[in-house]
Amino acid sequence: MKAIEIRNKYLNFFKKHGHSIIPSAPVIPENDPSVLFNTAGMQPLVPYLLGQKHPSGTRLTDYQKCIRTVDIDEVGDNRHLTYFEMLGNWSLGDYFKEESIEMSYEFLTKELNIPAEKISVTCFKGDEDCPRDEVSYETWKKVGIPEERIYFFGKDDNWWIAGEEGPCGADTEMFYDTGKPKCSPECNPSCDCGKYIEIWNNVFMEFYKDKNGYSKLKQQNVDTGLGLERMAMILQGKETPFETELFSPVMKELEKLQKIDIIESRRIVAEHLRSSIMIINDGGRPSNVDSGYILRRLLRRMTRHLNKLEIDLDKLPEIIDISIDAIKEMYPELLDRKENIKKVIIDEKDKFIKTLKNGEREFEKVANRAKNSGKKVIETQAVFNLYETYGFPPEMTEELAKEQNLEVDMKDYQKLFKEHQEKSRLGSEQKFKGGLASTGEMEIKYHTATHLLNAALKVVLGDHVHQKGSNITPERMRFDFSHNAKMTDDEKKQVEDLVNKWISDKLDVTVEEMPKEEAIKTGAECMFIEKYPDIVTVYSIGNISKELCGGPHVKNTGDLGHFKIKKEEASSAGVRRIKAILE
Ligand code: SER
Repeated sequence: MKAIEIRNKYLNFFKKHGHSIIPSAPVIPENDPSVLFNTAGMQPLVPYLLGQKHPSGTRLTDYQKCIRTVDIDEVGDNRHLTYFEMLGNWSLGDYFKEESIEMSYEFLTKELNIPAEKISVTCFKGDEDCPRDEVSYETWKKVGIPEERIYFFGKDDNWWIAGEEGPCGADTEMFYDTGKPKCSPECNPSCDCGKYIEIWNNVFMEFYKDKNGYSKLKQQNVDTGLGLERMAMILQGKETPFETELFSPVMKELEKLQKIDIIESRRIVAEHLRSSIMIINDGGRPSNVDSGYILRRLLRRMTRHLNKLEIDLDKLPEIIDISIDAIKEMYPELLDRKENIKKVIIDEKDKFIKTLKNGEREFEKVANRAKNSGKKVIETQAVFNLYETYGFPPEMTEELAKEQNLEVDMKDYQKLFKEHQEKSRLGSEQKFKGGLASTGEMEIKYHTATHLLNAALKVVLGDHVHQKGSNITPERMRFDFSHNAKMTDDEKKQVEDLVNKWISDKLDVTVEEMPKEEAIKTGAECMFIEKYPDIVTVYSIGNISKELCGGPHVKNTGDLGHFKIKKEEASSAGVRRIKAILE
């Protein structure tokens, strides 16, 4: 069964069971400064898991485009992916364990026709925070899983939370038995020898965790996640996702073009290319910070591995075409943006190959020095120089070092990077925590200020101004918008004055729900139209701003303080960036 068929079956099955199909959010969250990418289907839904009413009801289903970069350096083996699609169904205070398990079992055995004897499951064994999950256990027995295929584990295996803080709870996980022999008599679904493959995770979110511990949420939710690429691999009887229709055309092309045969490099190219395409499609551009930096790492690592395969880099446009072709049925929106996407990838490749050869030569020198010193360690300063002068992300230097059995010393890297802290991978990856849940008072104020800024820019610069992205921390806001020229001091002052006038006018911020079509007709501003569900929330500020938005916002602009633009600079071609604060 092709991935698209699995996706369609899934959404239709849950629709039949009363769920509203909602669209995927973009991979880069728009107004959640605490994460660089959506890493799970639940992430864009955090406010609703916490009790906010969702406009599409209490039963939802979708596919969510996800990026997980913690395993980026593992890509190349037979299973890790940075981009994947997560199919999910949610109960927002509606059904709980029993119905959720019954539906999952029915879907796996009746819709996907997975033989029941291939399924093993795990449940939470209980501890001081939450008792043993007897309800899941009894339900699994009731639907037909024999006791010997039901396992109990602790928080390490059967508890789910995104990061350190947020909604969470015990989960029950479903595993597919590949039929391979057990690696030891104790081999069970928590073993990663490859006999058991996790296929679905149903999280029973009834707690909220913060630094003080666990408390009960207002409602009992269900959050489930099924990895589409993995399921396609299983149903197609393949050993790796790279053999499914999502990757195989690119893998074959790379095999045809390569002069050196390295399967890991082919997988890295195919995988990083697909992730990059999806990130760029959702507005990401290579840069030295945050998600832009991850995109840069993906594209530079891909370029280096194309070189390792000795593939002519002029073939990249064709490889991109094949990659988009393989997934165009799943993401038809890629077709409209194909030329743009290609340009971003090729520009970054061109930028990098200028320094790649010299950087590799420099690395050889450094590596020889390390070998000759007998310590087999590459000094921090050299890692830093390779980044500063040749654009080698430190992770790439680490990978090059590993290929020669060398290590890198990252001990003082942060210190060297101090003045570039924003640029460092450590800085950005620390953001893989929490969700909107951690939205504080300042972030909410900045969020409302972005709407005012958007409106003021339109007045001062023209209607061509549209939001291209935003990022908020408790200290400042950053706002990217379409505009082709540097703003003059006078324009900046006019924008500031206008925002401050609207603040002193003490305008009410109001919210209403309406069908998407109607919202568009009223001229409400929105960034990615395909991202929005049929019923949307629209925030209005007096009569100066109307935007499709999930919130949250302050109630009155009078709460915002004084708005000040700190910086205006280029972000990427045709996009400017403003950094501003509220004092
Ligand atoms: N949030 C859970 C996961 O990511 C289930 O969707 O696995």
